[in-house]
Amino acid sequence: MPVVTILPGDIEIEVASGETLAQAAWRQDYQWPTTCWGEMACMVCACVVRDGEAAAEPASALEEGCIAERMPRFRQLPGTRLACQLRVIGDGLVVEKEGVRPPVCSA
Ligand code: FES
Repeated sequence: MPVVTILPGDIEIEVASGETLAQAAWRQDYQWPTTCWGEMACMVCACVVRDGEAAAEPASALEEGCIAERMPRFRQLPGTRLACQLRVIGDGLVVEKEGVRPPVCSA
């Protein structure tokens, strides 16, 4: 199962076949910012690929269009992807995303 490293916290998340990065995080109880839960409406899930781009499926035209039309220009950095659309096909992907938190421990 591919593992994705999330900066700046060096969090490692396993992504199952067919899952998106955000789906994998949510399934494993990580907090990954969202308000639409994968409907490509909020853009809050966006992350930036920092390394290992070959381990990610390329963005679809729909994803690229949503980023271009709905995200403020200053947030459209090279390598910007929607985590709710980003499918992982191998190891070595490193993305940067503020606000990702590990599962909360229950007492
Ligand atoms: S979760 Fe809202 S656009 Fe990705």
